Amino acid sequence: MTVLGVGIATLDLVFGADHYPAEDEEMRAQSLRISRGGNATNTLVMLSQLGHTCRWAGVLAEAPESAIITSELEQYRVDYRHTVRHAGRPPTSSITLTGHSRTIVHYRDLAELTAAEFATVPLTGVDWVHFEGRAIGELRQMIARVRAERPDCTISLEAEKWRDELETVLPLPDVLIAGKALAAHLKLAEPDAMLDWLRSHSPTARIALAWGERGALGDAHGQRFHAPAVGIDQLVDTLGAGDAFNAGLIDALARRLPFAEALGHANAIAAKKCARFGFALS
Ligand code: FRU
Repeated sequence: MTVLGVGIATLDLVFGADHYPAEDEEMRAQSLRISRGGNATNTLVMLSQLGHTCRWAGVLAEAPESAIITSELEQYRVDYRHTVRHAGRPPTSSITLTGHSRTIVHYRDLAELTAAEFATVPLTGVDWVHFEGRAIGELRQMIARVRAERPDCTISLEAEKWRDELETVLPLPDVLIAGKALAAHLKLAEPDAMLDWLRSHSPTARIALAWGERGALGDAHGQRFHAPAVGIDQLVDTLGAGDAFNAGLIDALARRLPFAEALGHANAIAAKKCARFGFALS
């Protein structure tokens, strides 16, 4: 399957540490990885390893550091030819990783991809378009374009965080993915309540809800599903676990697995990712 992912690519400075720094502390990290990140491209890098043909649409900064992003996309055969370039520097994250959790400090001043720019990205040969839930007004127009030009394409949307007018795009995708961060914003502590909320805003999409150690829940075809989390011997790197979940879900649904199995596969890919550093699956 050919998947087009629409979203950001970041420069990630990942410090492996045995504890989080206290205010005004100076501490040594045990490791440093400087790599490409960003939800959409993280998902694409894993989908590519799962056997899919992947393309990225987003904004690439015209800066020397972008070479770290492009060389990794090349390594994983993610086609970025139709990416838009702007002066500036890549969105950058300073990440402290302790194994069991990750804390992200993110800075960005690079413009987001606009609907007018997205209109120049070819959709020929694309079977699936995966969007990050950001720049909602532009996103609404991008989804409308895909529906108009390629009604046969499957559209997935990751609604990771709350954004103004988010509710206006929730009814639009075929597959809607959310997690605990959005639930926390909505003050919904229980996954069933979160599923109810998502269903009330998205009457027809297949909905997947990732809920950490409580596994994944789903709502599709008038039924509710639950797939337990997959155990991991040793948590090594939880950065991008949600992006791995998305890749596993898209991979399974593209292979037409039943929804309950697709949730289990998504959990398994997320677990595999958390058991190793970075996004290489083997
Ligand atoms: C992980 C991630 C990182 C990036 C940050 C952006 O999900 O995509 O790779 O730095 O989130 O918010």
